Amino acid sequence: MKLNGKVAVVTGAGQGMGRAIAQLFAQEGATVVAVDLKLENAQQTVAGTNGLARKANVADSAEVKAVFDEIDATLGRVDVLVNNAGIGGLDKFADISDSAWARVIGVNLNGAFYCAREAVRSMKKHGVRGVVINFASSAVASGDGPVHYCAAKAGLMGLTRGMARELAPEGIRVNTIVPGPTNTPMMAGVPPAWAESIIKGVPLGRMGEPEDIARTALFLASDDACYITGQNIACNGGCVFF
Ligand SMILES: NC(=O)c1ccc[n+]([C@@H]2O[C@H](COP(=O)([O-])OP(=O)(O)OC[C@H]3O[C@@H](n4cnc5c(N)ncnc54)[C@H](O)[C@@H]3O)[C@@H](O)[C@H]2O)c1
Repeated sequence: MKLNGKVAVVTGAGQGMGRAIAQLFAQEGATVVAVDLKLENAQQTVAGTNGLARKANVADSAEVKAVFDEIDATLGRVDVLVNNAGIGGLDKFADISDSAWARVIGVNLNGAFYCAREAVRSMKKHGVRGVVINFASSAVASGDGPVHYCAAKAGLMGLTRGMARELAPEGIRVNTIVPGPTNTPMMAGVPPAWAESIIKGVPLGRMGEPEDIARTALFLASDDACYITGQNIACNGGCVFF
């Protein structure tokens, strides 16, 4: 068991990659806090484990703080944060409204910052040499995605690097997982012709499965990755190279 006794917070854990990560981490001994906008889905994710499900919008710093305050009071520490929650969009660049821009940046980038800030405050308070994993996208390299999404995901890579350098002396590791096209409800929402063209561009010849990403997250969260920080770890069938 690679995460025995660890407390792991996984955002966007109600479905897709977040659910697969939360369930694999629980199998590996972690107490998982599954955070999602949809409480019922998060509850299904942790069913049969000792984990907790909490409803929060990661784009709302007060809601995020309330979840981490509760974790501090009940579980006493955070060892791992997986900043997986994210949203896409289909807007063409010139049609992106102020509110659509703010929503996509708000969930993907601000949300990751709010969660990471609370997690790191907790790690520092309890002297935990913890792990933060941010979620970008191969769209950062290919540009094949809505522009607000590409911008937010590129921002996450900068967040990772700045955090990694500053927090390394305290033993806190921060990395970015860069998924390629992966078989989740988000991907199911992409128009079929576009999805087909994306999958055709994957040298390994298939979409990723959420479990492929979960195993990558487990590696980064575990001591197997104890000398890895500040990196982009792509799990994408070779569709772009980082
Ligand atoms: N699926 C892909 O092909 C793909 C490719 C590259 C990157 N990604 C990224 O990987 C991550 C996971 O993607 P997925 O495909 O599993 O997504 P998904 O849409 O299937 O699931 C996302 C989950 O996040 C939750 N969520 C959304 N907004 C939230 C918010 N504001 N607060 C809390 N929870 C929220 C949703 O309710 C949902 O349960 C995302 O960051 C996504 O951008 C996905």
